[in-house]
Amino acid sequence: MILETLITTVNASKQAHIAPMGVHTDNDNFIILPFRPSATLDNLLETQTAVINYCDDVRIFSGCLTGRRDWPLEATKTIEGYYLQAALAHDELQVERIEDDPVRPKVFCRSVHKSNHKPFSGFNRAQFAVIEAAILVSRLNMLPDEKIRQELDYLTIGFEKTAGSKEREAWNWLMEVIEQHWEKSA
Ligand SMILES: Cc1cc2nc3c(=O)[nH]c(=O)nc-3n(C[C@H](O)[C@H](O)[C@H](O)COP(=O)(O)O)c2cc1C
Repeated sequence: MILETLITTVNASKQAHIAPMGVHTDNDNFIILPFRPSATLDNLLETQTAVINYCDDVRIFSGCLTGRRDWPLEATKTIEGYYLQAALAHDELQVERIEDDPVRPKVFCRSVHKSNHKPFSGFNRAQFAVIEAAILVSRLNMLPDEKIRQELDYLTIGFEKTAGSKEREAWNWLMEVIEQHWEKSA
């Protein structure tokens, strides 16, 4: 199973980095697959630790892809690092081994500590739409404009019916970046 999460890592100077990543999971075993080059990968190699944040504030997914990477953090318990204040829960990870690859290495990790912070309050289609749109933004230079337009048309249906204010803010940040990209390529 792949979970869309926010990974927080630190470098050797304890400077934090936040990035959305799809994490492969099977109970307490996780595989993080960063495309090179990646600050997350650099930090994983440097400190051998990471945090998976389970988070329904989709502004953080959208924010990280639109230049808004500064989100409130809390210190972790068992590893040197941080989790997101907005996380509903988090897993503190230790790297076990790395399968290197010139394009997308596999970083195998094990959870050494779990914490629950807030209750899960149900599924929301606008949150799903923002996450899908954030993935489109992360691939803007790889996908044809027509494909992006088609996917956005579909995502807009669920988004418009179900979004709250956080989802609208997150969506608007992504749409600004997509429109700027289209203006540049027009
Ligand atoms: C939901 C979601 C899942 C993503 N999953 C991955 C992933 O598994 N690997 C990856 O390299 N980038 C992924 N991305 C894109 C990264 O978040 C983005 O490119 C980021 O800047 C990674 O580089 P960094 O480690 O240097 O921050 C994902 C983006 C989104 C919105």
